[in-house]
Amino acid sequence: CRVVVLVSGGGSNLAALLTACADPAYGAEVVAVGADREGTGGVALAQEAGVPTFVERVGAHPDRAAWDAALTAAVAAHAPDLVVSAGFLKLCGPAFLERFAGRYVNTHNSLLPAFPGIHGPRDALDHGVKLAGATLFFVDAGTDTGPILAQVAVPVLDDDTEASLTERIKVAERAQLVEQVGRLAREGWRLEDRRVVVGPR
Ligand code: GRF
Repeated sequence: CRVVVLVSGGGSNLAALLTACADPAYGAEVVAVGADREGTGGVALAQEAGVPTFVERVGAHPDRAAWDAALTAAVAAHAPDLVVSAGFLKLCGPAFLERFAGRYVNTHNSLLPAFPGIHGPRDALDHGVKLAGATLFFVDAGTDTGPILAQVAVPVLDDDTEASLTERIKVAERAQLVEQVGRLAREGWRLEDRRVVVGPR
């Protein structure tokens, strides 16, 4: 299973995937890593691992549609079976979503549909929920609204700060991502409306 990973940040999820992929029995291979900005830790990690990288900045294109087309082409050039958004902070456009429909997953640091958007742990703390977590889902045109593949919960502790909760979520999130990408790679999958069915097509 050829996997392209998209990152905007430090890339700890990417690092976990790269480690897993070192075992051929895992079933997936990271064939390229893309970013929406220069100088991310994720791209540096990929380069150290000898994985091809590309960067498509929105600002380098005349408009969002042109960026969408360029990102779509850059990803498609690596012929992925699966595209993984791992801390990629851009919403992909219609060209991308059409091209990779049913093959584009995102990991988000809340238990969706609660707390979509970029402040999952902070919003969970502010709301006072006692369970937080991470959701892996197939991306659709909404913000964090697509069909859910897997979720993992972690407790919110009385003395949590945004930083401590964020870190606890990330540990569980990485394990979930590695487990589920491997499962998709080895078993295959299909989408039936909003249900994700893992197994032979
Ligand atoms: C993840 O927790 C993801 O849910 C959030 O950003 C984090 C990415 O971390 N949107 P990293 O770059 O993989 O370390």
